[in-house]
Amino acid sequence: MSSRSGTYGRVELPAVAVAVGERREVALASGSSGAGPRVGAVADPDVAEAADRPPAEEPDVPGRISRTVVSGESPAPFAGVPPLERLEMELLLEAIYRHYGYDFRQYAPSSLRRRLKKRLEAEGLSTFSALQDRVLHEPAAMEGLLRDMSVNVTGMFRDPTFFRALREKVVPMLRTYPSVRIWHAGCASGEEVYAMAILLEEEGLYERSRLYATDMNAEALDRARTGIFPIARMREYTTNYQQAGGTRSFSEYYTASYGAALFHARLRENVLFAQHNLATDTSFSEFNVILCRNVLIYFDRNLKARTLRLFGDSLSSFGFLCLGRRESLRFTNVEDEFEEIDPKERIYRRNSLPRQGGGPAPSRATSGRGARG
Ligand SMILES: C[S@@+](CC[C@H](N)C(=O)[O-])C[C@H]1O[C@@H](n2cnc3c(N)ncnc32)[C@H](O)[C@@H]1O
Repeated sequence: MSSRSGTYGRVELPAVAVAVGERREVALASGSSGAGPRVGAVADPDVAEAADRPPAEEPDVPGRISRTVVSGESPAPFAGVPPLERLEMELLLEAIYRHYGYDFRQYAPSSLRRRLKKRLEAEGLSTFSALQDRVLHEPAAMEGLLRDMSVNVTGMFRDPTFFRALREKVVPMLRTYPSVRIWHAGCASGEEVYAMAILLEEEGLYERSRLYATDMNAEALDRARTGIFPIARMREYTTNYQQAGGTRSFSEYYTASYGAALFHARLRENVLFAQHNLATDTSFSEFNVILCRNVLIYFDRNLKARTLRLFGDSLSSFGFLCLGRRESLRFTNVEDEFEEIDPKERIYRRNSLPRQGGGPAPSRATSGRGARG
């Protein structure tokens, strides 16, 4: 599914760098620490992300050597950032894209800048040019940057009312289909996918469902494949599950052992976990439901539009699209192609057949075979 071949093989080391043509592949390997689900000072870090605003315009200081060159032809995205810093940041993103293939050039500028600054600090550097030099020459530094750029905050039955709405408004339609294909785009460490598997199981749909769970972060996907989650979060997940309309005892779905909860293998039998980058990869199949929750908030307008086009082209007629609480189709390029099924829970449905001449692009990886499933 990834355009960067070489990412499907088992990764044994903390970080790997594999030459891929002109590019180098850096994947976050399983077992690396620091990217697990976080419970931090901020109740929901995504809220902090969404609330982030670009810094105020920097005043022009007389006599200072500045504004000699305005980088590129794209002043809007980094408005308010000192010109030289903006130039260095743009060159850093360009270098990362050209050398490693990860494209962050169209991420929302304010949170992007904050994350890059965090990496700058962690590396003990003072300029983005210095960081560029380091990530180009040291794959481990790129690995750290990738980790910072991939916010993996997630949880089971996160936003329980959303899952309740799924049960009440989407499941009845899915029942009429002979088979059900679901894509979780940006699934992080997979909690959302296991929650969906549980829901489908309880609704008698799991047997005929196939779930495709993708993320750009290989390390998060490795965690998802294990089905092991911190036992400390089971109380929270149990409450979520009940509020989401769960019909059994949540503890039936996992075995507690040594401080961890191991979810039953059956819940991932019909799931394919694979790497896919929404910024650079194409459609790979056709789905009845696409969930992409709490991912678009990190993208700028253009990347959001690209991603929504990708989803529009990947949905079957009258397929469902589910976004996060702070994401919406309003004022987007695909707004007219969807009807709102539940505006509050951000559940939409394609209101027409796929566009003329549209349809999904040729499949690059539709089966579990060969992919890291
Ligand atoms: C906050 S998590 C959302 C997890 C889950 N969907 C949820 O709502 O709980 C955002 C995820 O988006 C992924 N992501 C960010 N940019 C991406 C991209 N270009 N392609 C695929 N995944 C991306 C990150 O790696 C991260 O795992």
